[in-house]
Amino acid sequence: MSAAVTPLAYDVARVRADFPILGTTVRGKRLAFLDTAASAQRPLAVIEAVDRYERSSHANVHRGVYELSQNATDAFEGARERVRRFLNASSIKEIVFTRGTTESINLVAQAWGRRLGPGDEILITWMEHHANIVPWQMLCERTGAVLKVAPIDQRGELDLEAFRALLSPRTKLAAFTQVSNALGTVLPIRAMIDAARAVGALTLLDGAQAVAHERVDVRALGCDFYVFSSHKLYGPTGLGVLWAREAVLREMPPWQGGGDMILTVSFAKTTYNDLPYRFEAGTPHISGAVGLAAAIDYLEALGIERVHAHEQGLLARATHALRAIAGLRIIGEAKEKAGVVSFTLEGVHPHDLGTILDDEGVAVRTGHHCAMPVMEFFDVPATARASFGCYTDDADLEQLVYALGRAREVFG
Ligand SMILES: Cc1ncc(COP(=O)(O)O)c(C=O)c1O
Repeated sequence: MSAAVTPLAYDVARVRADFPILGTTVRGKRLAFLDTAASAQRPLAVIEAVDRYERSSHANVHRGVYELSQNATDAFEGARERVRRFLNASSIKEIVFTRGTTESINLVAQAWGRRLGPGDEILITWMEHHANIVPWQMLCERTGAVLKVAPIDQRGELDLEAFRALLSPRTKLAAFTQVSNALGTVLPIRAMIDAARAVGALTLLDGAQAVAHERVDVRALGCDFYVFSSHKLYGPTGLGVLWAREAVLREMPPWQGGGDMILTVSFAKTTYNDLPYRFEAGTPHISGAVGLAAAIDYLEALGIERVHAHEQGLLARATHALRAIAGLRIIGEAKEKAGVVSFTLEGVHPHDLGTILDDEGVAVRTGHHCAMPVMEFFDVPATARASFGCYTDDADLEQLVYALGRAREVFG
């Protein structure tokens, strides 16, 4: 390989310098932030883009003819185009801004789901976040449709054969996560999409834990819906995306009524706006969209593939180090995993563990991770979960291992 094409080494120290919060201390200790799966930290580029917008461009969008409103509209619609490019979607008509993954799934369940009736089926997996379970349960209650759940095994992998066997012409939608937030498992999404399409079912991919860690191309995937949250992608909270194929979106009735989603309103008849505005009632999260666009720019400048490789290295080293700790059980040992390690420590309740780790400056999530069926399957009340992002470094892992040693000491 010539010098010109040798990829530069991933400089995590430089990346960390972009995230002001990583320079703070917790209880006098260096912050080891290992909860990126819950919400990623924001780089300066995002903080500054939002700040710039708030200081110099804010007004309501799509409404005013004055310059400021046009600037805000340009910024907001520019963000939509940035998301389109990021996902390789065909058109900005397919990019609907929502409040997050949860709202995107609820939008599909309420608008698209209206067509379902008794005898129709929705297929999910045992690994789903509650956001990809409960909206379908509510839809089934309303329509008489039936929710089917594909099982997982002790490694935390999907039983693909069982998934295939549960598909039938009755299946109207298969909705599944790309990466499990509780286990880190990367699902065999291509095989799942192909199998669902073969029976005529639509597919919804929950990309909340994937979109910041691997490249997503919705056209290449061949799914019908793709959803994610800005805050897991180094962007602001309160904003998410629903991508749907235009033909699918066009067939869906609106779900929330109000300003912006209409063309004309009279008491006799209201007509609805074109895509994607038909699904965006009310004033949107404009600064959030500006921040998301900046976050995408930031991540793409780092290189998603390089971030992915960095996180896979961390995953391997963390798994190796944690396996060496007596009494530590890793929950979820799929062959293909993202940068997430869930575990329990014998004799220590995960919540107590979380408190001790916090004393050492280590921020990990403890609990059921909004995936109670996964906890039930592995017969644990909760786990501790360390998750990685572009800024995670080996010092974070060392601090985690040291803090786990302290927990062992405290609890004997
Ligand atoms: C896989 C998965 N789906 C959905 C969600 C819900 O995301 P939000 O709370 O941003 O709507 C999460 C959040 O943790 C998640 O990990």
